[in-house]
This record gives sequence, structure tokens and C-alpha cells, in this order.
Amino acid sequence: MAGDAWDEIKSHPTSKLTELFAQDAERATKYGFDQSGIYFDFSKTHLDDSLLATFLTLADQMDLSGNTDALFSGEPVNATEGRAAEHAAERGTGLDSSIANADALRNRMKGLVGAIDAGLLDDIDHVIHLGIGGSALGPKLLLEALQIGDETYETAVVSNIDGYALEPILERFSADKTLLVIASKTFTTSETLLNAQSVLDWMSQEDVADPFGKIVALTANPEQAVKWGIDESRILPFSESVGGRYSIWSSIGFSVALTLGFDAFEDMLAGAAEMDAHFRAAPFDQNLPVLAAFIDQYYAQAKNCETRAVFAYDERLRLLPDYLQQLEMESNGKSVTTDGEPLALHSSPIVWGGVGTDAQHAVFQLLHQGSHLVPVEFLAVIEPGHSLAPDHHKGLLLNCFAQGAALMSGKASDDPHRNYPGDRPSITVLLEALEAKTLGALLAFYEHRTFVNALLLGINPFDQFGVELGKEMAGKLSDMSGNKLDASTELLKKRAFPG
Ligand code: F6P
Repeated sequence: MAGDAWDEIKSHPTSKLTELFAQDAERATKYGFDQSGIYFDFSKTHLDDSLLATFLTLADQMDLSGNTDALFSGEPVNATEGRAAEHAAERGTGLDSSIANADALRNRMKGLVGAIDAGLLDDIDHVIHLGIGGSALGPKLLLEALQIGDETYETAVVSNIDGYALEPILERFSADKTLLVIASKTFTTSETLLNAQSVLDWMSQEDVADPFGKIVALTANPEQAVKWGIDESRILPFSESVGGRYSIWSSIGFSVALTLGFDAFEDMLAGAAEMDAHFRAAPFDQNLPVLAAFIDQYYAQAKNCETRAVFAYDERLRLLPDYLQQLEMESNGKSVTTDGEPLALHSSPIVWGGVGTDAQHAVFQLLHQGSHLVPVEFLAVIEPGHSLAPDHHKGLLLNCFAQGAALMSGKASDDPHRNYPGDRPSITVLLEALEAKTLGALLAFYEHRTFVNALLLGINPFDQFGVELGKEMAGKLSDMSGNKLDASTELLKKRAFPG
């Protein structure tokens, strides 16, 4: 059944984007949507009434409604791990009992933020937040996006095991005024724990009286944090049913709440809750995460686009592509359906991107004239936020809009080198201002879009078995006298560690 809908989608006869605009004077407003302080422009994509109708049929066949209800009802939608996916409960959307649990844990976190602000842990000027993947990307993104420079605490998020990531922070911070925040859902992730040990060693070397007394742990495995030596009063748990890459709403957001203030953290949750409400209530043909997923699937399946590019025309959002890489690629980079059958469709595209206008002078050549068709997503913020001359921001936004227009219209030339084929799609996401609430809504939009993409594909977006083998191999390799791996790997090891 779904096969027929996919066949129709794949063979959908498309007009050129410029023709779609010529056929419908209302196209720009028809595919432009306002939600939670964000304007979404889907008009420069090949979505049209008949393609939309076919996708709506597909959504019906894949029981998008039923599966969305299951997500918000705490059913085990993460079938391969037999778990619910309750990140939305952290912002008040979901099962009553899960919301109550999230509220209680958040109150605990608020208490600890207040106590630290009040000097419970003596004078704290610096915060080192250690985590990796979902335990770092969200905090990093939010701090970069929303800090204005007058914060009480200087907070650094360190994820990489490479000492070059941590050492400069240790050189800059004063050990006796540093709070160490260890963020790890499992509390077993080797990079995070090694970095944590190095920070503790540094604190001891710098004669901090009680380094363990300056640690806060954020985890769904509090027992493991206790075993590690952290006092229960400074362990902020969160629910096992909150996935790592969906965890910024939970206690993983502690460093954000501490640095930006608890009100900002709650604003972010409120923005996400607004997007949840929209996703649950809006008819699918007006539903932003659903429409965006239809567009994603059209380009992935019908046009065989292997990548999707995201360009933030705002330095403050420069980490958004990194955040989306994990969200989309770790969620939907799978080759089997939830039932374990081979996936007959393309899974998540490779997500990549950068910031405008820098990217224009580096990678946009390929976007305009390369042989790959790359759907592009532009993000920009109307309010500048900085105080430089208005020309800066005006130039930035106009460049952003010009790129979308140029990709679409192209420009014909008899000289093949100077010919721009055009008809290259883009979505533009325009934020009124970069605020915690708007950003919360934006991230929830991407979460739900990822979920809808997974449902259309028939895969489970909530597991990530693909990352396990590498961890296993790293474990084997670190046993220097243990099992041998392949000859090439053994030779590399010998070169690096001749002894
Ligand atoms: O290796 C992948 C992963 O499990 C991610 O899904 C997760 O966000 C990250 O590692 C960190 O895991 P943890 O929070 O358990 O340290």
C-alpha cells in the first residue's frame, strides 16, 4: 500500500520552481507559516497540492496520527529497546505521570541552581560542563546562541577526549572557583569520564580542598554517579525514557539554566511546548514538522538527494548544523525498518552546513552549479542583537535571501561555465528574535520533523546501535596485550605506541 504512494511520490511530475510561482500568485503566502515567533517559508520547494495529497495518503497509511498519539502517550515507541521516548514530557507534553516526574526533577534542579547562586558551593566563577553527543551539543548550542556576556558564570562545554579541548580551559579557569558538571545519560561514556578525571586531577594539583564537593552530575543512571563518588545531593537525574539527543530539556540543561538563569531555561521549555501543541493539533497540511518531513522525503526519495545543507545566517547559531547532524543522522541513519526488514528507501540524508555569509565564499559554488542537488535550509534572525551599524545585519539578511532566490531562478547563459541551472530548492526559517523561547520552539520543530521522517520511512528514530561497534573496538584496542584486530589497525597501533 505504502509502496503505491511512494511510487506516486517518486514519479510525481514536477514543474520548475519558477513555474510553480508563475502558476500561483499566492504561492509565497500559501506555503509561508507563522508559529511561535518563527516564519517558515516552504514555497521555494517543489511541494504542490497533488504531491501534498500523496504524502497525506502515505501519512495515513503509516498511521502518523496513531504513532504521534503513541509518542505522547508514553507508549514504547522505541520498540527495539522497549522504551518510550518522553522528551516532550520534560516540557509538559505527554503522560500526566511522566510530566509530574519531570516537574519534580526540574524543581530539584532549580533548587540546586538557586543554592549555587546563593553560594552553597562557595565562590563559583567558572563552570566546566563535560559531556559528549547529546550531553554536550544542546548545552553548547544554547550557550553560544543566548549568552550576552554579562553572565555570572563563565561556562565552557568540553566534549572531545583530545587534551587540546580541555587544557586551554584549565589554563584559563581558577580551580578553586570552578564547578565541574558531568553530563552523561549512562554515566559510562569513556571520553566524558576521562575528561572528568583530568579536571579532578587538576583541582587536586591546584590544592582545591574537596574536589568531589564541586561536582554536579546530570544522568539517568544516578547509581553509577554515586559509585563514581558523587554525593547524591548533587546528582540531578532524568528519566531513562529521554534519549541523549533529545535531552536538552532535562537536567542535561543544568549548565544552561545556571549560566543563563532558570527563567531562560523555562522559557525554552515553554517555546518547545508551543511547538508540541502545534504538532499535536494542526491538520497535517498545515503542520510544520509534517510538511517539512514531506519535503525532506520528496528530495531524499524522488530526487535521490544524499545530503541536506543547513546554513545559519547568524553567528550565534553556528552550532545548529552540528546539533542537527546528531539529531537527524543518529536518529534516522538506519538501514532496517523497525521490524528489522531491509529499508527499501534512503535513510536520513547527510546533514551538513555552516554559517552565512562565510559559506557563500566556500561551498556555494557546488550548490549553484555542482552536479549534486542539495536541498538547502537557510536560517536567519530579523532582530540583529548586536549594536554595530544596521548595514551589517541588513547585508547579512539580504545575502541570505539572495542565495535562496539565485538557487531557485538560476541564470541561463550560452557559456556553459557561466550558466546557472536554477530550480534548486530551499527552505527559509526566519526567527523574529533569538530568544530562549523561540529557540526552544525551533529545536522542538526539528525533533518532530525527525520523528515524522522516521515514521514515513518506517524506522525507529530512538535507538543508535550503530555507534556501539566502534566503542567495542576501542575497548578491545585499549587492551594492549589483548585480542588482535586486523593487520592494518595493528600496524597503526604499533606505530603510535612502539613500546
Ligand atoms: O555514542 C552515542 C551516544 O550514546 C549518544 O547517543 C549520546 O548522546 C552520547 O553517546 C553520550 O552518551 P552519554 O550521555 O550516555 O554519555
